[in-house]
Amino acid sequence: MNKFDEEIDRRGTGAIKWDSPFMTDNINPMWVADMDFKAAPAIQEHLKKAVEHGVYGYKILTDKYYNSIIDWMKNVHNYEVEKEWIAYVPNVVLGLSIAVQAVSGPGDEIIIFTPVYGPFFTSVRYNDRKLIESSMINIDGYYTMDFEDFENQITKKTKAIILCNPHNPVGRVWKREELEKLADICIRHNLYIISDNIHCEILSRDSRHIFLSLLSEEIASRTIECTAPSKAFNLAGIHVANFIISDTGLREKFLTTLEKALIPAPNILVEPALLGAYEHSKEWLKELNEYLEGNINYFIAGIKERVPEIKVRKPEGTYLLWLDCRKTGMNSNELRQYFHDKMNLEVNEGSYFGRDGDGFIRINLACPRRRVENALNVIEKVLG
Ligand SMILES: Cc1ncc(COP(=O)(O)O)c(C=O)c1O
Repeated sequence: MNKFDEEIDRRGTGAIKWDSPFMTDNINPMWVADMDFKAAPAIQEHLKKAVEHGVYGYKILTDKYYNSIIDWMKNVHNYEVEKEWIAYVPNVVLGLSIAVQAVSGPGDEIIIFTPVYGPFFTSVRYNDRKLIESSMINIDGYYTMDFEDFENQITKKTKAIILCNPHNPVGRVWKREELEKLADICIRHNLYIISDNIHCEILSRDSRHIFLSLLSEEIASRTIECTAPSKAFNLAGIHVANFIISDTGLREKFLTTLEKALIPAPNILVEPALLGAYEHSKEWLKELNEYLEGNINYFIAGIKERVPEIKVRKPEGTYLLWLDCRKTGMNSNELRQYFHDKMNLEVNEGSYFGRDGDGFIRINLACPRRRVENALNVIEKVLG
């Protein structure tokens, strides 16, 4: 048996995915983006040691922490980072909001490429900035940024874009040529880029993730790179993210804004979890990616063969699938309810990702294969 086949009971642990009020007993949760797998053994060992130590006072992050990030970025992503560039933030969404505040003022405009992860919208709107949506082009489930539309929407008030790479929910891992086009427009219009790479270690076999900052010094100097071990190693509940900002002026703006937010010191589990992941769990991550790709291939082949009403395309990155259910004639809210009521499946409604997501749902395949099989069977029974 593959270790990822193990079914772990998360009910009663306070897991959002399993214990939210609408999650009645028989629902198969395939929604919020965390994984139903145990963390890698090295992470568990590091965490146990930290807990068993028994003293839980205020913490700082040591050189080991920063060196571990530097090595990981160099060895895994070919991205050379200096210690001073790294800013710890408890989680990416908070960091997005801080970044928005740092690079713009109230009333300024920020552009995002939709459909996209819901908090991209709120991180702009809650800060009283104006949100500009550039709808991506969708051809048979393959999404691309509409560079002409993007550039046309830029005004004097536009200060930044938020990029999702790999893209949640459409699964694109942006290619070098696409990043180059994007960078060229941002440089010509003097825009900052807040680049969210949280999914960058969950990749299909043929995909390669490129940090935008690798393109040139010029683009790096206007980019805030958001990273975290939380998706790849399933550490969302630990609260660990690291924002990498090479430009001194931009970094100072970010750090000053962060300071004003009165963020607490990192909790006692942050450093051990990151060390367990980045220093000792590369092989585990490789096996995870293989397992996830198996789940994805299995599910997609089944949908194509057995449920032609739903259109789906294999993601280049992430364990999330974006199902085009527009043929059913239901809007996303109705779809979510329908999947819940008729199939006992909990999925994310497409409109969480903006108006371009209407008629779509997002399904999370980071769970044991048996649950993917069950989901496919029940979808076929109801919609096939
Ligand atoms: C693109 C993206 N950014 C950020 C997050 C959340 O990150 P965090 O839990 O660190 O705020 C997610 C979670 O699904 C995500 O998909």
